Amino acid sequence: MSVLTRRKLLQGAAAAGAAGIGLSAAGKLAGLAAAKPEPLILKTASIEARLMDGAPTKNVLTYGEAGMPPVVRMRKGEPFAARLINGIDDPTTIHWHGVRVPNKMDGVPFLVQPYVYQGDRFDYAFTPPDAGTFWYHPHCNTLIQMGHGLTGVIVVENPNDPVFDVEMVVNLRDWRLGDDSQFIESFRPRDAAKTGTFGTVRTANWLDQPQFDAPAGGLVRLRTAITDVTRIYAFRVDGAEASVIALDGNPVSQRFALDALQLGPGQRLELAIRMPDDEGAVVSLRDVRGTKPKILATLRSVGRSLKHDLRDLGRLEANPVAEVDVAGAKRIPLALSATAENVPGDGICGSLGYSFWAINKVPWPGDTPDPTAPLAELKLGQSYVIDMENLTPHAHPIHLHGMGFKVLSSSTRAVQPLVSDTYLIQPNEKVQLGFVADNPGDWLLHCHIIEHQKTGMTSYLRVV
Ligand code: C2O
Ligand code: CU
Repeated sequence: MSVLTRRKLLQGAAAAGAAGIGLSAAGKLAGLAAAKPEPLILKTASIEARLMDGAPTKNVLTYGEAGMPPVVRMRKGEPFAARLINGIDDPTTIHWHGVRVPNKMDGVPFLVQPYVYQGDRFDYAFTPPDAGTFWYHPHCNTLIQMGHGLTGVIVVENPNDPVFDVEMVVNLRDWRLGDDSQFIESFRPRDAAKTGTFGTVRTANWLDQPQFDAPAGGLVRLRTAITDVTRIYAFRVDGAEASVIALDGNPVSQRFALDALQLGPGQRLELAIRMPDDEGAVVSLRDVRGTKPKILATLRSVGRSLKHDLRDLGRLEANPVAEVDVAGAKRIPLALSATAENVPGDGICGSLGYSFWAINKVPWPGDTPDPTAPLAELKLGQSYVIDMENLTPHAHPIHLHGMGFKVLSSSTRAVQPLVSDTYLIQPNEKVQLGFVADNPGDWLLHCHIIEHQKTGMTSYLRVV
């Protein structure tokens, strides 16, 4: 029962407000202003925050003035605008992870946009074509900037979505803090060459095991993003009926029960949870991977049972992602391997100074104004299948910018034909990812374990 005493109870109203009630009013306002939306101001700041028992942590980074980066709300098919203002002493950008944006809005320094220096700004504007759960983060010096806090969740709403009784948004991440609550070294080279270096303090919405109130017998839409730089999760829900309704921003073709589902950094999980009828009953979202399972967050039933039924929930609309023509597709071989070759980092954009990993035997030399050749040059409108093979003994969440791919088949498991932007490839796995090259530009493809990304496991595709 020590768990109970450490739980932090969120005020039901505050949680619901932040998580979605009152959202339809905001949505309507956004709709009225659809022609030219006021930009959302996202200003980076260095703050103090209480992330563990004891002293507050210094040099925590966020967007805004206090607390975790806001949940950014957009609407499918409606223009969105944000102004990044850089308030910290380190160049930055924003990448809208999983949102299919025009190349110039993708936030990758040098490849598509200049650095945004302290005191400078950059205006982002695009219309999200897909509804779902996404997230945003810098694409500069990411191990530090993301590791210190700059990771936020994006919800792209769809007015046609089925109605839930309440929606919760959970940002999952760790922090590398010492006993004195202050940041310790961001990584250890020997870990970067393996699984990546884990955080020491685990949080959900920057809290240790937050508890949300939800109506008894009600239906909860739980949106979770793994925004950590390293950790792979295996999810379970205890105490309630729950089914997976979407992964990585796209509805699943067939809902299924969570059974230690593994997802890696960058991935998102959306669940429909049916709260227990009994007031006070507690439902927990857990990570059961590894030797130290962890309760991430809990939901507590409140009030008289609404007696709602998961089976009455309508389906989520599929996103308008072009259907890959598998028969006519060109193949892109992609092998993930370890490397012994050392490519000296040039120190810009947070090079870690090592290379441990390679894509098709080439370790990425770091973000430079003059990057290596693209992995492949693709023809606009053509279908492609990436034949990806993991030759390393570690799992890698491989993320493609700019285009969604469909998971076609795997050598080791049955896969759902899911559209995604990040695939967690296991050791010795071969997987086929199909997509239509329908978004022109240079699109990064990298492991989302940031130490792997920064020590070689990065490349890019050019669509012309
Ligand atoms: Cu989540 Cu290259 O990004
Ligand atoms: Cu990796």
